[in-house]
Formats: sequence, structure tokens, C-alpha cells
Amino acid sequence: MERLASVRDPELGATITELGMVGDVRVEGGVAHVEIALTIASCPLRSHIERDVREAVLVVEGIDDVILSIGVLDPAAKAALMRTARALAQARAPQTSIPRRAPVVMIASGKGGVGKSSITANLAIALASTGRRVGVLDADIWGFSLARLLDITGEVEVRGAKMVPLERPYGRGSVSLLSMGHLADEKQALLWRGLVVQKAVAQFIEDADWSGIDVMVIDTPPGTGDIVMTLARLLPHMGVVVVTTPSRAAQHVAARAADFANKSHIRLLGVIENMSGFACECGKVHAPLGVGGGRELAHELGAELLAQIPLRDDVADGGDEGVPVALHEGDDGYFHVLAQRLWTLAQDLVPAGCTARLLDAIEYAVDQPSSS
Ligand SMILES: Nc1ncnc2c1ncn2[C@@H]1O[C@H](COP(=O)(O)OP(=O)(O)OP(=O)(O)O)[C@@H](O)[C@H]1O
Ligand SMILES: [Mg+2]
Repeated sequence: MERLASVRDPELGATITELGMVGDVRVEGGVAHVEIALTIASCPLRSHIERDVREAVLVVEGIDDVILSIGVLDPAAKAALMRTARALAQARAPQTSIPRRAPVVMIASGKGGVGKSSITANLAIALASTGRRVGVLDADIWGFSLARLLDITGEVEVRGAKMVPLERPYGRGSVSLLSMGHLADEKQALLWRGLVVQKAVAQFIEDADWSGIDVMVIDTPPGTGDIVMTLARLLPHMGVVVVTTPSRAAQHVAARAADFANKSHIRLLGVIENMSGFACECGKVHAPLGVGGGRELAHELGAELLAQIPLRDDVADGGDEGVPVALHEGDDGYFHVLAQRLWTLAQDLVPAGCTARLLDAIEYAVDQPSSS
């Protein structure tokens, strides 16, 4: 068992003993019989785990062979395993300056151009309008766009070895943005790959001063590549919102983002359908990108359909001009209603009760220069 405790499930980021995947283990005449239960029978990492188990056990003196029997966890055991994996990931996440009481919401989709960045910008403004300090992380390293969308430009200051996001008042609150657009030019960022990009994302979280924010919204590049994986590892408390267009093709690709969320045990908060049909002056509803994809996807994922945002000139124009449409919307506007709903749902992401608040208060007090 001690040797098996060194075998990790690479996807879940914990050892197979911690996760309760090891069943009966016995040794008979130099042969070890080991029972392993996987989350699904067709687990793509099956051979990887088998090899690691074999290697780990064969190190034990007196054992010459390993006979593995591979089973599948029943739904209850699988649910317990996912709970354990989430708790372990949260316990092992690095310390960041993001206050514990501030929920983190990642806007993702499998597909490009579905409106993630437009939604991030408008959502941030709607959240700020009622007095919140909103942190926005533009994690789209190659395709950053939030500085333009929110019209927040300038140079990032470094204070006490931490980058300070650029803050701009919006409504009764403010938006603080950190984006590659503030640090490098587009051509430079395009040359970055793999580890360098992951490091940049990690720095945006670990080496930035996010203290004081009430909520964080993260814009991501399309797909579930390295950047999204890094975010999930660093911010296991976060929730994800999947954006799709009403077309069937987009819906299937968007489902991959949700599948990823499930595997990395981050919580799916819901689905947003963007670019839905719009009512024309001629009296008809036009739906050039199809109908129903968002609702179907939400149904398929057992998630809430948070909003259906129609195709609107003012969303596109607002983006081009750096004046997001949510600035002019009333409380009943699409993005304000969405912000209210998400704010409520996101409260489940933060550790409840007094402890988190107390810890935040202590950290804040310790960070202040002493007055004596
Ligand atoms: N509801 C909408 N109505 C009209 N135009 C929209 C709407 N939502 C987004 N757009 C426009 O669609 C284009 C793509 O939007 P956006 O850049 O927000 O998508 P994205 O998912 O962030 O793209 P990428 O994957 O490239 O980062 C932009 O020109 C934007 O102004
Ligand atoms: Mg974008």
C-alpha cells in the first residue's frame, strides 16, 4: 500500500490511494494481486496508471510479478472520489492575493468567436455598476482584447514585487484589469508557447495584487488547452460558465469545455447562449445562427441556461468603441440580469461563514504597514 501511495492519477492530480481507487491487495508466493477501480472503463489514462502501479509494486523486495484486476467505480464511489479530488486540489492550491470571499468565474467555450470576451467585459461592468470591485483577468495570452473592450490602458505598476492590475471606476464600483495587452505587444506574445504561456498565466494569478476585489471574471482563449488547465490547477475554487451560439455545431464543441470542467473538478455554473435570434423592425424574429443550441446544451449538461443574448449591433459597436453596452443598460438589461444571477450562484464557490472573512481580515491587517 505504501508503494501504491506513490502512484498518481495524472488527471485528478492526487494519488490512487488518496482517491480510494485501490481495492483488495494481497501477495501470494512472490506475486502481488492488486485491484484498481477507475472512474470509467475506457479511461484514456488506463495504461499509464497500470504501468505506474506495476513499476511501483515491483520495487518491493520479494515481489516478482504483479497481477492487476481493473474495475470501475460505482456511481456513489465515483461521486465520493470527485469530492475527495476537489477537496485535495483546493487544499493544495497555491496561496494567492485573491480574497477568499471573492468568487472566481471563468468564461470558457470550446470554440472561438462566440462572444467570451464581449460577455466578460459586459459582465464585469454590470457587476461593478452596483458597487463591487471586479477583478478581470484576460487570460487570452495570444488574443487579448479586454484592454480595448473596457478601454483600460496604461502601464502596469509593480508594487512590492506584485503587478497591480489597472483599475478604472465603473458605476458605483470599479474594474481592475490585468492583460497581456498591458505587458507585451501582440507580435511578442504570439511567439510564446507551452510552458512560457503557462508561466505567464501563473504570474497573473500568483504575482499580482488582487487584494480588495469582490469577484473575479476570467476571459479565456477558445478550447481547453494549457492556459485553461493552468487556471484550473491554480484556482480550483473557480466556477466555469460555458458560452455557445445557438447552432448545433457550436453546442458540441462547447460541451468539451464542460467536460473539461468536470474532469478538473471545477464547478459548472451554467451555459450562456450568445448571438441568439433578434426581433427585427419588420416584426419577425431572425435567427441566422440557429435556434435552441444553448437550451439543448444546458439540458445535456444538467446545467442552468443563464442567458440568451441576442445578436445586437450595440454589443458589437460597444466592443469596437470600448464602451460596452452594459454601461447604458438598466437593471433589466441582459447583462445586468445575468450578473445578478451569476453573483447569486457564485456565492456557493466561496468557503461559507466567518472563517474566510476572519482570515481575510487578518491577512489584510498583516499586510498593512505598522502604525507604531
Ligand atoms: N450578442 C452579440 N451581438 C452582436 N455581436 C456580437 C455579440 N457578441 C459578440 N459579438 C461580436 O462577435 C465578435 C466575437 O466576439 P468576442 O471577441 O467577444 O468572442 P470571443 O469568444 O472572445 O472570441 P475569441 O475566441 O476569438 O477570443 C466580436 O466582433 C463581437 O463584437
Ligand atoms: Mg476573446
